[in-house]
Parts: sequence; structure tokens; C-alpha cells
Amino acid sequence: MFRFGVDYYPEQWPEERWEVDAQLMSDAGFNVVRLAEFAWVKMEPQEGVFDFNWLDRAIEIFNQKGISVILGTPTASPPPWLAHKTPEILRVREDGQRVAYGARRKNCPNHPIYRERSRSITNTMAEHFAGNTTVIGWQIDNEFGDRCYCDICRKEFQTWLQQRYGTLDELNTRWGTVFWSHTYSDWEQISLPLSTLGAPPNPSLALDFRRFMSDTYIAFQQEQIEILRSKCPPHFITHNLMGFGYGGLDYFDLAKPLDFVSWDNYPIGFWHEGKYTPSSAALSHSAMHGLKDKNFWVMEQQAGPSGWQTVSFTPRPGVLRLWAYQSIAHGADGVVFFRWRTARFGAEQYWHGLLEHDGRAGRRYNEIKQMGAELIRVGNQILGAETKSKVAIIQSYHSRFAFQVQGNSDEFSYEKHLAQIYSALWKRNIGVDVVSSTATLFKYDLVIAPALHVLTDEIAANLLDYVRSGGTLVVTPRTGVKDIANVVVNQPLPGLLADVCGVVVEEYDAITPDLTQAITFDVDELAGQSLPVQTWCDILLPQGAEVIAHYAQDYYAGKPAATRNQFGQGQAIYLGALGTDAFYESVLGWLLSQKGIKSSFEAPADVEITVRWQGDKRLLFVLNHHSETQDLTLDALYFDLLSGRTVTGLVTLAPREVLILTVVK
Ligand code: GLA
Ligand code: GLA
Repeated sequence: MFRFGVDYYPEQWPEERWEVDAQLMSDAGFNVVRLAEFAWVKMEPQEGVFDFNWLDRAIEIFNQKGISVILGTPTASPPPWLAHKTPEILRVREDGQRVAYGARRKNCPNHPIYRERSRSITNTMAEHFAGNTTVIGWQIDNEFGDRCYCDICRKEFQTWLQQRYGTLDELNTRWGTVFWSHTYSDWEQISLPLSTLGAPPNPSLALDFRRFMSDTYIAFQQEQIEILRSKCPPHFITHNLMGFGYGGLDYFDLAKPLDFVSWDNYPIGFWHEGKYTPSSAALSHSAMHGLKDKNFWVMEQQAGPSGWQTVSFTPRPGVLRLWAYQSIAHGADGVVFFRWRTARFGAEQYWHGLLEHDGRAGRRYNEIKQMGAELIRVGNQILGAETKSKVAIIQSYHSRFAFQVQGNSDEFSYEKHLAQIYSALWKRNIGVDVVSSTATLFKYDLVIAPALHVLTDEIAANLLDYVRSGGTLVVTPRTGVKDIANVVVNQPLPGLLADVCGVVVEEYDAITPDLTQAITFDVDELAGQSLPVQTWCDILLPQGAEVIAHYAQDYYAGKPAATRNQFGQGQAIYLGALGTDAFYESVLGWLLSQKGIKSSFEAPADVEITVRWQGDKRLLFVLNHHSETQDLTLDALYFDLLSGRTVTGLVTLAPREVLILTVVK
């Protein structure tokens, strides 16, 4: 069943209202609710005293309406009794200060008492709800993240390092601790990368601490997974991740033990300079899909204006539905709105739900109700349909963490670099998988590895095998700079990829915004094009590669700026400079035409087209992100699942209109 629903907090509303809410949900076509992920104190009002009666009654009301339940384990918001009794469960920030009780996600993820109470509530919930047939699955905790710098974490970090490096000699060598006399003679001497160090820590220590914290949350999650798997075998287990924008955890590792990934999609956050950038939400969808190469859910889909202290603009008519369909267009098999009714109290009074504060079901509710009716008709035709991309972008959390530690340039952002490349493909309606550096790549015609900073032999071998067997790999600056311990490699850049690229970096120039540079291409349809570049310029020295572009200015005018190397059956392109949007649009346009990769048909800007495959049946999602009508010329005779119309030739899309097309045979 295609799952469509809402996040609901029965504990925040009078019990007489539950039935009314459940009826309105059922009227909207909802078939699932997520409950309880912040209700620890309602379920365990005192340590060891549990009360699930209220939740049983709420679940029974949903059962009566045919609405299934996902339960959240409530460990993101430990109750006051726990923090009061053991204040050390509260997290210590990077500046060494312990946070005060009063919000959520304020706990140290390593504190043994917090861990023990978390296992206890999870275990008790699991036992209680194991036999409840309305419950179908679990969300573990809520949006894992935040590093803790307390003494317990320091000790755990030391143990983690011991396991990773075995001996102190090994750690000292790999980290280069001889620098500034940091050579450790006892594991206990290793400190945390606190901001109170007064200067940046050893980059190796700082990167490993990020890995350690990421592993901490994965281990914490694993404890709950084991409890839930053993007590509730039929139930699925997921966690709500935060999309591409959050870089604090290795989401590939976090996603591994989950049945599927879900994530929280708030497109209002992607509003820049008065304009919504739908490619940002698309990138998050692709990145979340890529974590398991599998369809996903949106566990929190925007339901109204956002806001904690202040209120965002209100989503215009048709926008919430459009955004929710965009999730589906990229592979969501479940969409759950956050939240049902706008809270009257607490920190999120201005984070709007589908219903108003006073419980009225107005414009937003009606819009989503329309979608609910549509999904009752078409949901099963979409459910499970796969996305199939010919292009992949590699995302690396090792590299992200390394860039968090050393930005390389004030103008550089790994996330923006990747988003720029994604957006250039998105604008042409080319489906993109965002995958890990160790993913199987053979199915892709084109793989782009933006700033793949940290390389291992395994990653390099994966990329080499791909090119050797006929793939086209695109590499950009700051690739292959670091080893896994965050130490600069002892060979010319791009390090382990120099052979496959047939080129080395002779010298580089991290240019500031007041320095201009451009590169001129000499190849195919790019020949003669001069494109401005920015932020970083690698001056290249070919070692067998063909030069396809030169720098235009400064002392390295005329020097190679981009190369192409035949390697085995494939080729590796080295783009030596970071570009503007126009640069990536031109260069990727050239590469796509070289590889014969096209979208289904041409569309105006910001009319998004994605494809999902139900077996060999192609579902084309057409999403008009404009507030005005747009004309589109279809390439065949199609049936639109949503309107039930047959369409062909010139079609005028209404503002924010969505079509789901299948070819009429
Ligand atoms: C100062 C210090 C050196 C080195 C340089 C560059 O001059 O004395 O040890 O740190 O700055 O950072
Ligand atoms: C996140 C959280 C929700 C809620 C929303 C809106 O996605 O998971 O609990 O706080 O943000 O702020």
C-alpha cells in the first residue's frame, strides 16, 4: 500500500478530540500516522513506571479508521526526571560548556545511564506493542546528530582510537603527531578537538573525532534495532534523516541496518533570494535514495509555514501538494506530513501543521486531501516503481568531514560544489543517483566525483575498475589530496587517481573573488568557449592525457586546465578549476551529448521531469514549479494518471500542476 499520512501528537490534545482528528485524517485519505517520538515522559512518567494506556487508546481509534501506526522511540527528548537525577547525561558543547536541560537532543549519546534508560524504554515499548496489529513499524529516535565533548565521550574516543590504530606508535605515525610535539605516550593523553584549544586541532584527530561521533550514533541506533528486531520481527525499522544538507553523520553507515531510509523534507529551507530552488529538494531525495540504492519515505513533509520564533511565508496554493509529489517523483514510497495540527504550546508553536492552531481544517488540509484522494486511485501504480539513472555523483562523508575540518578556501563548500553539479544535470531533467565512493558503478554511463578529497586504495580501485571497463569519470579539484587519516598524500595530485586521469597537478592557485580567471575549451562543441572559473585552479601537467582546455589569464595563461584520458575501455576527465553554474551547465551538456544521455523530452526551465519504472512501464512525473502556466510539447501520446486524460502534443501546465504520464501503446 502506498503510505500517506501525518505526524500526530495525541498527547498534546484533549482525548475527546482524537476521534475528530482520526476522522479528518481518514477523510483526507491518510492510512498511516507516526506517534510518540517525543512522548517519553507520558510513557514513563517516573523512572521505571510505564503508562501506555493513553497510547493504546489513541492507536485503537486509528485502528477503527483503518489507519496504521509507526511508533517513534522517544529517546531524542529525555524527561526532566532523568536529567535532574543525572545532569551528566546532558551534552557538552565544542566550547566545553554543558548544555542546560530544556530543549531536546540535549543528551550525551555515550552516557551509560542515558543509554540504559534508552534501552529500557525501547524494550518496554517493544514488548508492549509487539502484538498490536495496528503498529507496522518504528522510527528510531529523531534526527540523530550533534557531537558531545564530555569526559565520557573523551574516554570512549580513546577506546575507539585504540581499536582503530592498535598501537600508539601507529596512531602517532598516521596522524603525524611529531608536529608541534604532540607525540602521545599514553592513550589517556589524547584530548578532544575542543574549540578551547585556541587553535585548530590536528586535522587527523579532528576527522577521527567526527568519525567516532558518527559511529557513536550508529551504535546507539543499533542497540534499539536489536531490541526491536528481537521483540517485533514483523515491524519495519527506519530513522528520519535530514537530507543532503546535514553532514554530521555518515548516513551511508547509519542507513545500512535500516529497512529503508526516511527523511524530513522542508523545502522552505531551500528558498534563496526570493526564489525556491527545487533542485535542492531533488538533490536531497537523490542523496537519500542513494544511501541504500532503494526507495525511501519522507517521514516529515512540509505541511505549512515553518517557524519556531518567527514565521516563514506561507506556502502558496498548490505548493505543498507539488512538493509532496516531487518526493514521490524521486522515489518516495511513503509521504508523511509534519505535522497534523499546529501546536498551541511548546517551542514549535509557529511550525505549522495541516490544521490551524484552533483545529480548523482549511486550505492546506483541503489541498492535501485532494492528493489523498488521488493516491487512493493511483498510489498502487506508483508504489515500488524504481528510479533508474545513467548518471551518478559520488558523495563521500570522509571528504565532507575533512572539509569541515579544513575548508581549503573560504569560497569553497563541498556541499555547494556537489549541488552545483547536481543542479546542472537537474536543469536538463537528467536523473542522477548520489552514491557512495564504494558503490558499484558499472551501471552508470557517467560518474562524477566532485572533490573526492579523501581516497583509499579501495575507493581508487573502484573508480579505476569503472573507467577500465568503459565508464566515463569526471574528477574536480581537491580530489585525492588526503589519505584516510587526513594526511596529505606523498605523491602528486590527484594522488591515487593520477594514473587513471593521466595527469598531475603541477601547482594550484586558490583564487580570491577579486582575482578573475577563465578557461577556454578546445574540444567538440565547447571549442572556443571561454568560461569563467573561480575559487580554485589546478595547473595541470599531462602524463598521457589529452588537454581539452587552457587557462586564459595570469602567469599560467595557456597552461592546461582540463584533460581527458583514455584508460582501458573508458575515459577520465579532469576539470582543473571550479566553475560557475554556467561552467557546469556547458561542460556537463557536452558530456551528456557525448554519452547520448537525454531526458525524455525538452521542458521549460523549472518544469521538472523525473522517471520511475514499474517493471518495464515508464511513469513520467511532470512538475511545474512555476506560479504561472508553462507550455510543454510532449513526444508521444500519454495517459495522465492524475487527471485521467489522454494528452499529446502541446500541453499547457497550470501553475504548480503535476502530471503522472504513461505512454499509450
Ligand atoms: C609563525 C610560527 C611558525 C608557523 C608560521 C606559519 O611564524 O612561528 O611556527 O606557524 O607562523 O603559520
Ligand atoms: C524536524 C523534527 C521535527 C520538528 C521539525 C520542525 O524535522 O524532526 O520534530 O522539529 O523539524 O521544526
